[in-house]
Amino acid sequence: MNKSSTILVTGGAGYIGSHTVVLLIEAGYNVLIFDNFSNASKESIKRVEKIVGKSIPVVEGDIRNREDLKKVFENHTIDSVIHFAGLKAVGESVEKPLKYYDNNVTGTVTLCEVMSEYGCKSIVFSSSATVYGDPHTTPIKEDFPLSATNPYGRSKLFIEEILRDLYISDNTWKVILLRYFNPVGAHGSGTIGEDPNGIPNNLMPYITQTAVGKLSCLGVFGDDYDTHDGTGVRDYIHVVDLANGHLKAIEKIDGINEVLTVNLGTGKGYSVLDMVKAFEKASGKEVPYCIAPRRAGDIAKCYADPSYAKEVLSWEATKGIDEMCQDSWRWQEANPKGYAQ
Ligand code: NAD
Ligand code: WQD
Repeated sequence: MNKSSTILVTGGAGYIGSHTVVLLIEAGYNVLIFDNFSNASKESIKRVEKIVGKSIPVVEGDIRNREDLKKVFENHTIDSVIHFAGLKAVGESVEKPLKYYDNNVTGTVTLCEVMSEYGCKSIVFSSSATVYGDPHTTPIKEDFPLSATNPYGRSKLFIEEILRDLYISDNTWKVILLRYFNPVGAHGSGTIGEDPNGIPNNLMPYITQTAVGKLSCLGVFGDDYDTHDGTGVRDYIHVVDLANGHLKAIEKIDGINEVLTVNLGTGKGYSVLDMVKAFEKASGKEVPYCIAPRRAGDIAKCYADPSYAKEVLSWEATKGIDEMCQDSWRWQEANPKGYAQ
């Protein structure tokens, strides 16, 4: 894509989407955000506009609603779509599988149908390391066997398969599947960041909300895993590095001749206690914790082999654990209630 292309960003008001929109606009792309605000606030877009110093067109709509999407393609020439829109809470997906299949899978099918109708056949999709299930070894390479242990993960697997089938049926489609590891951190300005609804499911927002005094104590889910200190090991990646991976994908997408499937991780694994210690050092705040039982469905170790991303996207993560913790804290300290004023 050349830098004057127009990119439709579904889910662009959300955590990873908002950071990606900043980088796209700073790189010169025209951006259109499409979001139903089911898990985002309009304030995030105002903050992004402040960072980039210009207003951003936003369409409030649902990817399951064909008419909402048609209006976008009717009124704009879209060159490529970065498709973040989706629901992502693993526990909720177990309780409400149909909600996840409808939103994530049906929504993506509808999006692709409308794209096809308007001749836009270029998509970068937010997949997840969850598609590797419980990997037989680490680091994880892109050709490892795929599986899922919950409806959220299965929705990602199904969408990957659907996009692969779409390419087989019509190889003029350009498809990049980006498998994210564990996104953390926030924009260096401290004005946009992760703002989960209710009690966070993920480790980093739980840590930051404990440090800011919203939560009293972090439960560490198990200390008897086969890892260096018994707690779960993950590949935490700074959200700005992750956002940059999307820029690289957009730069390369016109030239690909296969469905490109790429891990976006750092290649380094940190345990829960490593993260607590790094966060305490970065913030100067104590994070009270206690050891709790293992969480159902969790695995011991998950971290990427990121070498393929370097080879095909010329991308690699540049921000380490200290910067991830500092930036998460800057955002949380300045915005103890997230985007709520
Ligand atoms: P997020 O919830 O902050 O962002 C998702 C956005 O999509 C939200 O703004 C939400 O309002 C919007 N959305 C949801 N359903 C929609 C629909 N039907 N129509 C229009 N908009 C809709 O989540 P995020 O962390 O930014 O994740 C972005 C994508 O990356 C998701 O697809 C997620 O599954 C995937 N992913 C996230 C992680 C993670 O840990 N954050 C890891 C791997 C993959
Ligand atoms: C990280 C580590 C927990 C919370 C999930 C999804 C995955 C992907 C990223 C979207 C684990 C431990 C956590 C807490 C803890 N999302 N933990 N106490 O489970 O690796 O991945 O988010 O695609 O699909 O499954 O991330 O941040 O929940 O957990 O001890 O209160 O922190 O056991 O070892 P996870 P996480």
